[in-house]
Amino acid sequence: MGWGPVRLLEPPGSDAPQAVREKLAQRGWRTVAAFQTRNPPHAGHVRLLQAALAQVDGLLLHPLTGPVESGDLDAEQRWAAYEWLAEHLGRVVLAPYPAAMRYAGPREALTHAASRRNYGVTHFIVGRDHAGVGQFYPPDAARQTLEAAAQVLGLSILSFPEAQYCPVCAAAVLPQDCPHDPQGWWPISGTAVRDSLKRGSPRPNG
Ligand code: ADX
Repeated sequence: MGWGPVRLLEPPGSDAPQAVREKLAQRGWRTVAAFQTRNPPHAGHVRLLQAALAQVDGLLLHPLTGPVESGDLDAEQRWAAYEWLAEHLGRVVLAPYPAAMRYAGPREALTHAASRRNYGVTHFIVGRDHAGVGQFYPPDAARQTLEAAAQVLGLSILSFPEAQYCPVCAAAVLPQDCPHDPQGWWPISGTAVRDSLKRGSPRPNG
């Protein structure tokens, strides 16, 4: 019994790793940071992305578009917000990352970073409770794991502490940004945004 011919059932599309690598190369960027997200963008994300853009030539905004748990929003519901964000930040390539969300915290952060290397980036952004679920993982676990694995991954890790909303600054701040009392800051998270959307209650503009 012999083997039949091998046929590629689905040719790689314009968002496949090689195509994204080519898009990034066309921009002529020397350094690019990938940003994984499964949530609608919020002010905390924006603060991280601005801080990253101060350190690299460009961003790969790379939202996860595969299955998410029932409380999360599907990629179709989030996509227009990513397009808006990419346009307003500048120096951004936006592409889908067609994987399922596993909510596996630090282990999933490793997978997220390693697979983004295939897309041609030099840096990977990680913040508070990356790929977390509820209170299951310590909020800094994924950051610590990626910082320790940077050399093996062959990536520079842009690791950020929690961004929160400062009502005095009327903006999302990282701890180093803001002279005001951190006691007055409000946490910003995908969970909090989803909850306030469900309740129909307003969110700050920051
Ligand atoms: S995740 O499951 O894809 O990690 P999410 O889309 O909320 O969830 O987060 C995307 C990235 O932003 C992750 O690296 C996460 O750690 C980071 N992040 C989200 N919210 C904050 C915040 N308030 N402060 C710092 N980092 C954050």
